Amino acid sequence: METKILKKPHDDYDWPEYTKIYAKQTAEMMSENNEFLIKNSFLDGDTIIFKDALNDNWKELYKQVITLGVNNVFECGCGPGYHLHNIRTLKPSVQVFGGELLQTQLDFGRNTLGIPEDLYNNTELVDLSIPLASCLFNNKYEFVYTQAVTMHLNHEKAIEFIRNMANISSKYVFLMENWGNHDYPNLLQESGVLNVFESEMIKGEYQTYMLLTK
Ligand SMILES: C[S@@+](CC[C@H](N)C(=O)[O-])C[C@H]1O[C@@H](n2cnc3c(N)ncnc32)[C@H](O)[C@@H]1O
Repeated sequence: METKILKKPHDDYDWPEYTKIYAKQTAEMMSENNEFLIKNSFLDGDTIIFKDALNDNWKELYKQVITLGVNNVFECGCGPGYHLHNIRTLKPSVQVFGGELLQTQLDFGRNTLGIPEDLYNNTELVDLSIPLASCLFNNKYEFVYTQAVTMHLNHEKAIEFIRNMANISSKYVFLMENWGNHDYPNLLQESGVLNVFESEMIKGEYQTYMLLTK
């Protein structure tokens, strides 16, 4: 029997229009009392005590950063930057960095969500779906992650995006995505990252995620 491999033909969004759509989604989430920024959650040793109404995917991401004990993280497609803000709120010794395609997303974080301005000293505008975009970076980061980004990109862009993530990682690549949107095992194979990283699908306390380890 022929195996059918999903090669996602199009991005899910027209990205220059994305922040408008996102602003609407965010307002809906806020009206349902979902929270974006950590206010009351805290770290007790290596355990996060969650006291804010956060999305489960986000909790799993923050848990992983704390469990692995990394010193720095880089979020690819960081949007408004609330994960970076939340990670440094939970554990201020973790240095946080991010790359994002759209200035409007970063502006949304500072102007609408009220994320402190200094966070944006560590974010940069970059298209991570361009081949070898990783050459623009002078540093490597211990934990390079995405949350809901590659799942929205077409097949070719997703491959380049993951390659760039792998190139700027010194230790881990973490993917929190919708696993039905691509044939991820095939995508990783095609990207060549499995020549350097071991990949593992992990069923966490809240969600299933993929961890690549060098
Ligand atoms: C669905 S949002 C997720 C944002 C954030 N990671 C989160 O968890 O809320 C996808 C983000 O990826 C960004 N993005 C899309 N294509 C990108 C690219 N080629 N390079 C960098 N960022 C990109 C978008 O602008 C958007 O902010």
